[in-house]
Amino acid sequence: MTELVRTRAELAKARAALTGTVGVVMTMGALHAGHETLLRAARERADHVLVTIFVNPLQFGPNEDFDRYPRTLEADLEVCRRAGADVVFAPDRGEVYPDGEPLVRVDPGRLADDLEGLSRPGFFHGVLTVVLKLFHLTRPDLAFFGEKDYQQLTLVRRMARDFDVPVEVVGVPTVREPDGLALSSRNRYLSPPEREAALTLSAALRAGAAAADRGEPGGEVLAAVHRALGDGPPGVEVDYVALTDADLEPGPPPGPARLLIAARVGTTRLIDNVAIRLAPRP
Ligand code: PAF
Repeated sequence: MTELVRTRAELAKARAALTGTVGVVMTMGALHAGHETLLRAARERADHVLVTIFVNPLQFGPNEDFDRYPRTLEADLEVCRRAGADVVFAPDRGEVYPDGEPLVRVDPGRLADDLEGLSRPGFFHGVLTVVLKLFHLTRPDLAFFGEKDYQQLTLVRRMARDFDVPVEVVGVPTVREPDGLALSSRNRYLSPPEREAALTLSAALRAGAAAADRGEPGGEVLAAVHRALGDGPPGVEVDYVALTDADLEPGPPPGPARLLIAARVGTTRLIDNVAIRLAPRP
């Protein structure tokens, strides 16, 4: 049975009743098959699964989609039930931020100055602040985050390490539609032609990954991505294409690396990334 709790007091009671290991999956709702994969991963590793559903106002910029972000609690609960979640914590704003906007926020450091942080100032301060609060409220042994938000996953890992949060942060591979589109709650904003245009992002990453598989160096990998993007279909405005090491440091040496892309498709901002391996230099 899945128990829905709305307040800190209800959460504390439900959490105290969970014996054994607890895996948390933090979400903003609008759950899709990507979240279900996170829930299944949590189910496999932990004795109990706790899901949080909270659209965190702190991580939205003034011109972003906080108001129109999909809120689908009933459907989300159904997903959680199906996936065998034990507890769903779906608090309102006052429950998470009882004193209003927090005065003190987590500083994500220099890794947040680039990529998403460049176009979304304050975003990672908001994400890490709520994640840290939710770590304290839910006290998980394991926490599952999708690799699709790779910068978020990397920063949450760093925060847990730097702040000695006793939790294992587990990255879960991105789930894609059969045609390659990475699943995202924001995909539901896309019109059919925009969805078609959005496929350019994963196709470009595949072209870069293929170049890496052929043993080409980083510069050629990036060139392959840009060639695949071409002038881009109408309505696709590329924000960045980046090649980093697995910890998001730029200029990766041979070995495991990450290829990342962000673009605006119509009015929707989409991100995607893939793991690649750069061959040793000849
Ligand atoms: O990835 C998300 O859905 C959010 O950024 C998170 C981790 C739930 C924090 O609000």
